[in-house]
Amino acid sequence: MEMYFGFAAQLLEQGWATTEDPYGPQSCYDSTIAFSHDIPFYQELAMMYGGPILDLGCGTGRVLLPLSQSGYKVTGVDQSESMLRECRHKLEAYGLTASIVQQDMRLFDLAEASFGLILIPYCSMIYMIDDNDRRQVLRRAYEHLRPGGGFAFDFQATPVQEGDSQPWLALQGIDPLRGDVLVQVAQMRGLTADRRLINQINYRHSERSTSISVQASLEATISADRMQELLKEAGFEVRGTYEDFERTRYRTGEECVILAEKPLQAGE
Ligand SMILES: C[S@@+](CC[C@H](N)C(=O)[O-])C[C@H]1O[C@@H](n2cnc3c(N)ncnc32)[C@H](O)[C@@H]1O
Repeated sequence: MEMYFGFAAQLLEQGWATTEDPYGPQSCYDSTIAFSHDIPFYQELAMMYGGPILDLGCGTGRVLLPLSQSGYKVTGVDQSESMLRECRHKLEAYGLTASIVQQDMRLFDLAEASFGLILIPYCSMIYMIDDNDRRQVLRRAYEHLRPGGGFAFDFQATPVQEGDSQPWLALQGIDPLRGDVLVQVAQMRGLTADRRLINQINYRHSERSTSISVQASLEATISADRMQELLKEAGFEVRGTYEDFERTRYRTGEECVILAEKPLQAGE
């Protein structure tokens, strides 16, 4: 499938830009993501279910770090070496320890298979592009959760609008680590009712050079009803579907937060 469209494709065709992995070494994830209102929700679940905690798609440790700071034994799984490198740096800087594993969340297999709580924060499920992918993740999570344990994640639940969106400014600022001026412009192409392609163009200016890179990611949405069906099929009991992290009951919102449990009698 052609991953680039619009101005990103034009920049590549004319040799102005290079391609870049969205979660690769150049990613400025921590500068771009100003999001923390899910953390109290995950902290609350940690108190309810207890550890150890598994954070799937943990990235640079946005949720993993505060949980580790609260004293829980946490394991983070992510497929991106660069995101995990950043996560390890931060753990070291804060004097925290956590087990960090580079694996695909669809296939992970850990020595610890009795987690009290498993999380997939910040819509990382969006990269599971069909039910096969989702079933794999749910199966692996179920296998690694102890009976009575909690499983929570958020995902995009409303249909995709087909066609190309207007480009939007994703970030403009100075990269705090490198001191470079950074402008990121993103654009979305709705491919089908449940799949979309995001292209982001990164303009980076430093004292030494100016560069343009483009990145693409394929994302999928799934209705809250279908996600609940998949959870039940995998053996989970759904405890709640919410529109936000304050646990407003889910109706039709763009984002759905779901809490499920592995039944107590499972494996007993
Ligand atoms: C939107 S970021 C979320 C990072 C972190 N959970 C947070 O809340 O800030 C998505 C993360 O999922 C990871 N990811 C995407 N697909 C994955 C897969 N198949 N297996 C493991 N990690 C994956 C990416 O590398 C990235 O770190």
